[in-house]
Amino acid sequence: MKHWMPALAVAGACALPMGAYAQDSYPTRAITWIVPFAAGGPTDAMARNVANRVAQELKQTILIENVGGAGGTIGAAKAAKSAPDGYTFLVGHIGYMAAAPSLYARLPYDPVKDFRAVFRFPDTPLVLLVGESSPYKSVTDLIAFGKQNPGKLNFSNAGVGSTSHLVAAMFASQASMNITPVAYKGAGPALNDLMGNQVDAMFDQTNTALPQTKGGKVRALGLTSSGRMDQFPGVPTMAEKAIPGFQVSTWYGLYAPKATPDAVVQTMYQAWQKALADQAFTGKMAEQGIQMLPAAQYAPAAFQQFTADEGQRWAKVIKDAGITLQ
Ligand code: MLT
Repeated sequence: MKHWMPALAVAGACALPMGAYAQDSYPTRAITWIVPFAAGGPTDAMARNVANRVAQELKQTILIENVGGAGGTIGAAKAAKSAPDGYTFLVGHIGYMAAAPSLYARLPYDPVKDFRAVFRFPDTPLVLLVGESSPYKSVTDLIAFGKQNPGKLNFSNAGVGSTSHLVAAMFASQASMNITPVAYKGAGPALNDLMGNQVDAMFDQTNTALPQTKGGKVRALGLTSSGRMDQFPGVPTMAEKAIPGFQVSTWYGLYAPKATPDAVVQTMYQAWQKALADQAFTGKMAEQGIQMLPAAQYAPAAFQQFTADEGQRWAKVIKDAGITLQ
């Protein structure tokens, strides 16, 4: 399924042969960012947010190509095989760039060997959501039912290894209860079915959960952030109300095929640095429940090392929580 995002187009780009890369004129044509989830979910929303602003700095079009399925690993595999010419990138995230190697026996790419980090995006914590007509008014209500009725709570998620899958599995394990995961091609469709009362609960990222919570379509029971958030007034953190220390955010970032030239990475990162200096842009993201990071954490080398470290960390989390592919 392809969704192409119309973005900024600039006339007069010099006509170089397709695929050509000349340092002093890059980019000379539209760039594609592969988002491995369906349109309308938090990763897609974050990607469009960042792409729109970076496209302004590059004075070039950035097209979002949604390639859903298998918790983001199908889109990541496609990006890994794309030409390292500066015209195809992957919008990566915690699931298919850190957890997936510990969940999928035969992953068709290696997050560290097949990609190079370009820059990190800001983070989004998650929020535990139930439908507006749900009987559960608190995390403790939900846990009480889950303990007494093993397997009866259906949690929607964006596919095996997605944050919505991982965090729900961690929650169930730490609350000592069994839940039934229901996989979709993205958190967008997963949230739609929660609002349609087809499932009981889900963990969604704050940037997409916020409008539906404000609109009364879903009820927020707990935040996975370190502290309460102004955007979710009255909503406690999971740690304060149910599971001490329960804290996790989805991280994201832009990756290129490993052999992509340094100059391409630098051009893209410099455009991102200019976007980060725009307080109107960063302020709007913060209003959506997106958590900005210390500047140094956005840089290519720091993000490359972070990706490798996260792969190690999630291997342990997955083993300790007994998270599997189902
Ligand atoms: C997830 O990990 O659950 C994804 O962020 C879902 C999505 O972005 O669609």
